[in-house]
Amino acid sequence: MTDLAHSLIDTLPKAELHMHLEGSLEADLLFRLAGRNAVTLRWPSEEALRAAYRFSSLQDFLDVYYAGLTVLLTEQDFFDMTWAYLERVHADHVLHAEVFVSPQAHTRRGVAFEVMFEGIWAALQQARERLGMTGGVLLGLQRQWSEDDAFAMIEQARPVADRVLGLGLGGPELPHPPAKFVRAFARARDLGWKTVAHAGEEGPAAYVADCIDLLEVDRIDHGVRCEDDPRLVKRLAELQVPLTVCPLSNIELKVFPSMREHNLARLLRAGVKVTINSDDPSYFGGYMTANFEASVKALALTRQEVVAIARNGFEAAFLPEAQRTAHLARLDAWAAASAPG
Ligand code: ADE
Ligand code: ZN
Repeated sequence: MTDLAHSLIDTLPKAELHMHLEGSLEADLLFRLAGRNAVTLRWPSEEALRAAYRFSSLQDFLDVYYAGLTVLLTEQDFFDMTWAYLERVHADHVLHAEVFVSPQAHTRRGVAFEVMFEGIWAALQQARERLGMTGGVLLGLQRQWSEDDAFAMIEQARPVADRVLGLGLGGPELPHPPAKFVRAFARARDLGWKTVAHAGEEGPAAYVADCIDLLEVDRIDHGVRCEDDPRLVKRLAELQVPLTVCPLSNIELKVFPSMREHNLARLLRAGVKVTINSDDPSYFGGYMTANFEASVKALALTRQEVVAIARNGFEAAFLPEAQRTAHLARLDAWAAASAPG
């Protein structure tokens, strides 16, 4: 499919399942919010911020991510950030978006949970009404903080629990194993939430297995280091646990030396249910179409493989069945229309 036109990849109906809203803040919006809220940033200009987008590791990136998100103070700020992302990915033919937010990074700065949540929620509602998109909010625990902090976050979310899609786990993977959050994830399941966790990005394959065995997650975010344990790859394929892979992120954070060495295609061909996502699109140089395009180009994915990956996205989404069926029908129509001959 290396000859597949940009316009075809662009129009492919997509689901985004792994994207941190704070990582979608483009430099211009970030500086606009800093001005609006009189927040002083460590970078003197947008250009200086963009120049900082060169990362040697996950922690290196997270330092910039946590500094950037301090511009978010009001419900309007969270609305503006979320709407900017949704409008942008509507243009990439994203039909469904499950967006992560990192509540603790806001509440620790004195921003009320409700302020954050309602701003995001209002933008998702507007996307549903104006753009016909579906989506939801995933609350991403930060693993460097304690189990008590995790319980406190879940407690803050209880008043809006029925509007929360699920619980996630992000932040610096090493040295914070999934085992630290077994009870927090059990609490989330009791609330009826889905659960997902970052694992096997910088951390070992064993963390991926722990997310399945100890946290009982519905999906793994990243998970690419599962390949260090061939038996785990087999298990992931057997169980059909979805991996939300973020190709451009993995290159920017040096998980793989180059896109040609990325294991997305190998995992797909081994039967693992991989999806393509953008992680932190403003920092890693691309939204959904760019992530698909870079993967197709470097890994020589066939047209059928691209459709299979997009299908995995809708199948792995936390969606009511009627909406899933409707989105999959759009994908089937795209596949039929783009078939050669
Ligand atoms: N938070 C935002 N992006 C992340 C990533 N790639 N890994 C872990 N936590 C994150
Ligand atoms: Zn992530």
